[in-house]
Amino acid sequence: METRRLGIIMNGVTGRMGTNQHLIRSILAIIQQGGVKISPEFTLMPDPILTGRNENKLRALAEMHGPAVIGEPLKYTTDVPGAIDGKHDDYEIFFDASGTLQRTKFVEMAVSAGKAIYCEKPTAVTTDEAIRLAKLAEDAGLKNGVVQDKLWLPSFRKLRMLNEQGFFGKILSVRGEFGYWVFTGLDYDQPAQRPSWNYRAEDGGGMMIDMFCHWRYVIDNVFGPVKSVVAHGATDLPKRRNENGEVFDATADDSAYAIFLLEDGTVCQFNSSWCTRVRRDDLLTIQVDGEKGSAVAGLREVHVQSAAETPKPVWNPDIPQPIDFYDGWQLVPNNIEYDNAFKIQWELFLRHVALDEPFRWTLREGAKGVQLAELGMKSWHDHCWVDVPAL
Ligand SMILES: NC(=O)c1ccc[n+]([C@@H]2O[C@H](COP(=O)([O-])OP(=O)(O)OC[C@H]3O[C@@H](n4cnc5c(N)ncnc54)[C@H](O)[C@@H]3O)[C@@H](O)[C@H]2O)c1
Repeated sequence: METRRLGIIMNGVTGRMGTNQHLIRSILAIIQQGGVKISPEFTLMPDPILTGRNENKLRALAEMHGPAVIGEPLKYTTDVPGAIDGKHDDYEIFFDASGTLQRTKFVEMAVSAGKAIYCEKPTAVTTDEAIRLAKLAEDAGLKNGVVQDKLWLPSFRKLRMLNEQGFFGKILSVRGEFGYWVFTGLDYDQPAQRPSWNYRAEDGGGMMIDMFCHWRYVIDNVFGPVKSVVAHGATDLPKRRNENGEVFDATADDSAYAIFLLEDGTVCQFNSSWCTRVRRDDLLTIQVDGEKGSAVAGLREVHVQSAAETPKPVWNPDIPQPIDFYDGWQLVPNNIEYDNAFKIQWELFLRHVALDEPFRWTLREGAKGVQLAELGMKSWHDHCWVDVPAL
């Protein structure tokens, strides 16, 4: 029985995504399950070191989560360059979940040290910068990847299954409704539930740069390549309160409305808003309408309606609606177990690093998301359709 240790520097891990999705639900969950089992004789075992700026936060995280999983606090250091340079043991992977604007300098350091690089999206806020980072890693021959978690959500896997089975026939349109109310923090006893930098463009915030990265890989991978975009953004709520209790001006878009036209003519329309109250199945719902059938996906569950089950409504507002439209849909069963989406992608990346297995969700793929966001902003500011050139 061979166990191969994979040292991972986890940077910016005290943040929301770093702690919850990457540390607890991915890396610690992998350690807890006994590693990534490649064969009965061979296992990959992550060995993380937490890095960041604030020693107290790192220590608290290390002490809170280490003992139950590895019998002692996790390793940590505020010496990020030292960790990258091998001063705190040998770590072959560098992972970054720090703020978007911090990403560049950390990725550059990791490239110089020859690490395999994995990081959160967006990789940058401009396409040029995102491509530059991708090239840096490619030219150095380094394995690299960007988080594209939504691809492994149960519902998106089901949509892919339905599509590959021909359930939809020709897909005509796709409509995504994303968002929920993010409190401003201005009202008594109603604290905000997302980091305040999300609402400041100067700190890398904004709905388009945040969500169009996701819409790009979701659309490209599940429905087909995006050809052009028309978008509009807005800053619906002009003031919010930050983590220190101070009121600040929101300078970034907190809602975005976009139509993405695919190369095959499919129309994908996505509304994204932090200023909307949810009355739908989930925080993200995607309706796919095809000639032969439709589906409505939440984050986990998918409902389908085939052509034969489609009711025939007649417009008549003078009587109560005689059709219960929710009745005509079937729930797609959960025939397999769906693991955490971030964890699945982490396991694929670890296999890529250790075994050279293919991994196509690279920094270059991540740059396509930044490109769509940037072109969305161009469309918004220029009031026009914008084509999406190949990168
Ligand atoms: N994949 C997804 O679904 C998803 C969802 C939300 C956010 N994100 C991305 O994840 C990243 C982090 O977002 P978040 O919501 O966790 O934000 P956050 O503000 O909660 O966390 C950011 C972390 O980076 C740290 N940080 C900031 N500057 C740093 C520096 N100079 N050196 C070291 N650490 C530094 C912060 O202390 C914090 O720990 C962002 O790029 C964001 O776009 C991805």
